[in-house]
Amino acid sequence: MGNPFRLGVLGSGKGSNLAALADACASGRVPAQVALVLSDVEGAGILDRARERNLAGRFIPPGKFRTKLDEEAEKNFVAALWAERVDLVALAGFMRVLKGDFLRAFEGRIVNVHPSLLPSFPGLEAWKQALDHGVKVTGCTVHFVDAGVDAGPIIGQRAVPVRDEDTPETLHQRIQEAEHELYPQCVAAIARGEISVAGRRVVWRKSRSADFADPRR
Ligand code: GRF
Repeated sequence: MGNPFRLGVLGSGKGSNLAALADACASGRVPAQVALVLSDVEGAGILDRARERNLAGRFIPPGKFRTKLDEEAEKNFVAALWAERVDLVALAGFMRVLKGDFLRAFEGRIVNVHPSLLPSFPGLEAWKQALDHGVKVTGCTVHFVDAGVDAGPIIGQRAVPVRDEDTPETLHQRIQEAEHELYPQCVAAIARGEISVAGRRVVWRKSRSADFADPRR
């Protein structure tokens, strides 16, 4: 066995995706360990989820902007992730757009989970956008992060039905349950070296592990 694959998880919210990732690592379904959890929000739930699991977690002040990290904050985030020798940065409800220096520091090694079937409904409250638009199927997407917003090569998607009686809350809840399955599947495939990227297309190796169902259904 080589060194364990090390994850850095960044989030601003309640941390249910961190919990799903960390628990999948702990149970061996994802051959990786959560090396560090970082938040731009002091007291965010994600830091509580980390603490409950004895994972290293830190608040790093985001600086003077509202939607991105300022230069000093960006340096501090990258330095913290480098210090922990993180192999992959997993965004889990991180509410700031990552810019050039951060993207270059972890080129091709940042992933995100988004609560819609991209490229439909990028941006905020994607479940509400889906409901307002009247679509009958939505879902979630795990993708590599590039300089666009909710853009970048798609690794996996999972469909979720929209029901007539759905409210934004019930639909978001159903999408999150799908995220909690899809995100660990995709991270496991990356940790095992089972996917490759060709242009915009992410290709899954045929011989991938049978631990999970096909995340592309
Ligand atoms: C998720 O729904 C994810 O799709 C979006 O932010 C939310 C984070 O939720 N990017 P949590 O903090 O992981 O519970």
